[in-house]
Amino acid sequence: MDLTAFLVAILLSACLQAVDGLLVPANKFLDLALPSYDYIVVGGGVSGLVVANRLTENENVTVLILEAGDLDSAPDLVTVPGFVGHGFIPSQNWNISTAPQESLDNRPRDYGQGHVVGGGSILNGLVVTRGAKYDYDAWRTLGNPGWSWHGMFRYFKKSETFTACVTPEDGRDLHIRPHMNAHGREGPLQVGYPRFFYKTSRNFLEGVSELGIPLLPDINTGVAAGASVAPATINDRNQSRADSRRAYLDGVLNRPNLHLATRQTVTRVLFGTEVVNEDPEQPVQGLKRTYGVEFTTSSDSPRRRVACNKEVILAAGAIISPSLLQVSGIGPASILEELGVPVQVDLPGVGQNLQDHAMVGAFYNYTRPGLFTANNLTGSILDEVEEQYFANRTGPLTHPLISTLAFASLRHLDTNWKSFLSSIPNSEPESHLPPGPGQHPTVLEGYKRQQRLLTSLLSRSSVGALEVMADSIGTLTAAVQHPLSRGFVRALSADLLANGSVARNILLNPRYCSHPFDCDIIVRGLKLNNQLVKTKAMQQLEPRPAYPWDDLTSQNDTALLEAVHSKLQTEFHPAGSTSMLPLELGGVVSPRLVVYGTSNLRVVDAGIIPLLPAAHIQAAVYAIAEKAADIIKQDSTMSGLDPNDGDVTPPPNPFTNGPPGLGPGIVEGPDVTGGFRGDHGHPGRNI
Ligand SMILES: Cc1cc2nc3c(=O)[nH]c(=O)nc-3n(C[C@H](O)[C@H](O)[C@H](O)COP(=O)(O)OP(=O)(O)OC[C@H]3O[C@@H](n4cnc5c(N)ncnc54)[C@H](O)[C@@H]3O)c2cc1C
Ligand SMILES: *[C@@H]1O[C@H](CO)[C@@H](O)[C@H](O)[C@H]1NC(C)=O
Ligand SMILES: *[C@@H]1O[C@H](CO)[C@@H](O)[C@H](O)[C@H]1NC(C)=O
Ligand SMILES: *[C@@H]1O[C@H](CO)[C@@H](O)[C@H](O)[C@H]1NC(C)=O
Ligand SMILES: *[C@@H]1O[C@H](CO)[C@@H](O)[C@H](O)[C@H]1NC(C)=O
Ligand SMILES: *[C@@H]1O[C@H](CO)[C@@H](O)[C@H](O)[C@H]1NC(C)=O
Ligand SMILES: *[C@@H]1O[C@H](CO)[C@@H](O)[C@H](O)[C@H]1NC(C)=O
Ligand SMILES: *[C@@H]1O[C@H](CO)[C@@H](O)[C@H](O)[C@H]1NC(C)=O
Ligand SMILES: *[C@@H]1O[C@H](CO)[C@@H](O)[C@H](O)[C@H]1NC(C)=O
Repeated sequence: MDLTAFLVAILLSACLQAVDGLLVPANKFLDLALPSYDYIVVGGGVSGLVVANRLTENENVTVLILEAGDLDSAPDLVTVPGFVGHGFIPSQNWNISTAPQESLDNRPRDYGQGHVVGGGSILNGLVVTRGAKYDYDAWRTLGNPGWSWHGMFRYFKKSETFTACVTPEDGRDLHIRPHMNAHGREGPLQVGYPRFFYKTSRNFLEGVSELGIPLLPDINTGVAAGASVAPATINDRNQSRADSRRAYLDGVLNRPNLHLATRQTVTRVLFGTEVVNEDPEQPVQGLKRTYGVEFTTSSDSPRRRVACNKEVILAAGAIISPSLLQVSGIGPASILEELGVPVQVDLPGVGQNLQDHAMVGAFYNYTRPGLFTANNLTGSILDEVEEQYFANRTGPLTHPLISTLAFASLRHLDTNWKSFLSSIPNSEPESHLPPGPGQHPTVLEGYKRQQRLLTSLLSRSSVGALEVMADSIGTLTAAVQHPLSRGFVRALSADLLANGSVARNILLNPRYCSHPFDCDIIVRGLKLNNQLVKTKAMQQLEPRPAYPWDDLTSQNDTALLEAVHSKLQTEFHPAGSTSMLPLELGGVVSPRLVVYGTSNLRVVDAGIIPLLPAAHIQAAVYAIAEKAADIIKQDSTMSGLDPNDGDVTPPPNPFTNGPPGLGPGIVEGPDVTGGFRGDHGHPGRNI
């Protein structure tokens, strides 16, 4: 058996035996691996596995994925939707926590992030939402040709196989009527609905409707403000978690041109000789070329190197990718200096523009006698529903923690929304961004542009300002969707594994509510919840306010804001820290996802999102990575779809071809007028 077959055999046996420590053994990997690969993908999470899968469709292209975590062994805690929210497996979490949050209560927050093959898709809550058409059109407006809703739409579809298999009764009661034309049917990722719904979902939808917020039969058509049962990353047949590993990796591990090395932490991207621009019209300026990466199994193991023939592709997520760039010499010069790292590219935006959705859960204990909720899943009832799940793949354990949710536009939240909104663009960017690289003129300019766009987004009735997520037991979680606060992430040491742990060498500061608008939105969300539980439909559940207060009448804005400050936590949607933006707006990657100042280093993960959509972001990350793969194929003259779909002309690289981004040479493509251009009102196929 040749080396490759041997490697694959080891991998497959790892999958089959599914116990701790089975993978391409760390100590043998170096003997087995090729001396170089065409592409090295750093991180086997959501985006990394998508890109690796698509690039290796061409048998002549070799790809190595380096992933710090292990393969999961498919324990019930991971695969059973009903166990979402029951905690993480310790070894699958990076154990990152934030800096103390100064605009809240000065406490740090835990920040779960996947450290496992499949990344966040092994830990996440399964919710599938795309956000509004205008959320993506804003990406293009920020200087990213090809990245409008129109440019993303077919990649949303390409990534998924959507199954709308719900009973006619559930379809009617819960307003589930998907527009099948908005969904994919042949993609690797299974998206569907659970077989079981708690009765409380219906009360929630009807209650929200009483408040004048529309019900959406399909939340993923580009018109995204309203209430809905969101689909989930669930395999319809066996009602288990669909994640990026099962979707994009397991089926292609037999490709001899794809290698996956687990338990390998990449510590640096390596740069070699400069590529000199040969265009005589342009000033000669060097682009840095990476020749590979340094990695290791643990802090006290030797550092190894592996070379790339073509490119290094960062897919380590929005927190670690920018940190890796910095320790490799790409970032704000001041930070690189502090780290003692030689400057490859002085790029002020690396680690800046970090955005996250922040959320606060309020608990209104549903006390109606005889009501069945997830709280009933204990003792003999749990035994029964487990039996039912494993025998028939039906019942309460098919239902994830959250399926029913509402995105409220600003006008749903506040009758005075116009004056609330008018305060945004008047605020000084300097006072809202962190000191140091956050004050770089390009970063400030980028934020100013985002503020203007956010004002316009928030004025629209089809764009969410706040999300309310409903579980079955009475938690109504309010999350800000178009935050104005910007945080940052930075490396604290030139060695990301100093003292044994990456988490310790990264400073993550989301700076929640550093712009007070965000907490004000959540306060309005909590007030919306208070109204919601008073609706006729919700009163049937006999909600009893329990947390963080047990008496709604004594609530005033001061008390609500205080509750928000102490209870706020992440919704796990970090983004923006390696933004796809023009260089003069503090950008890190171009619309081809190439890191400015380099010729063959890209970022494809959630960090490239320049402005968060009002949505859970996994659908966007899958689509971004699908599009990235086509861009990479196109740039290497491999065949692929035209990622821009005739939408645009790619912009020049600012390091070689003069003004980037919004400068001349960019043709803005046609805009799509409504949201989804399909047959609205057409009921789903299978229901
Ligand atoms: C707890 C939780 C709940 C969520 N719930 C939802 C939800 O319900 N719906 C939704 O849409 N989204 C949800 N998300 C968000 C979604 O899962 C993420 O947006 C998505 O996983 C981001 O993909 P990524 O490729 O950017 O990064 P990730 O998926 O995080 O992948 C990064 C990978 O890189 C690896 N890595 C990092 N550094 C290195 C290194 N130096 N060397 C080697 N490997 C490295 C990591 O181990 C990881 O596997 C949730 C996320 C979390 C964590
Ligand atoms: C791979 O290379 C072989 C030999 O050069 C060639 O015949 C084949 O067409 C190539 N395959 C693809 C998909 O490019
Ligand atoms: C996170 O902490 C747990 C112990 O709480 C540990 O088992 C695990 O290995 C840590 N994760 C990482 C990536 O170091
Ligand atoms: C469910 O089905 C999918 C797709 O066939 C498969 O990848 C996965 O391993 C199955 N999961 C379980 C827990 O059986
Ligand atoms: C919720 O209400 C039930 C009574 O219906 C009570 O037993 C339970 O303790 C309450 N839970 C909380 C957290 O208040
Ligand atoms: C679920 O648990 C609650 C609280 O213990 C109880 O009042 C209710 O009757 C239970 N529901 C069912 C259907 O068993
Ligand atoms: C599985 O479904 C069959 C057919 O509906 C039913 O008879 C059986 O009791 C179910 N098994 C369990 C464990 O619920
Ligand atoms: C690592 O440990 C050393 C010695 O204990 C300490 O001086 C240093 O600050 C630590 N570095 C980090 C990044 O924690
Ligand atoms: C607001 O509510 C808190 C807690 O109920 C109370 O202590 C405070 O006096 C109230 N403030 C005003 C201005 O009413």
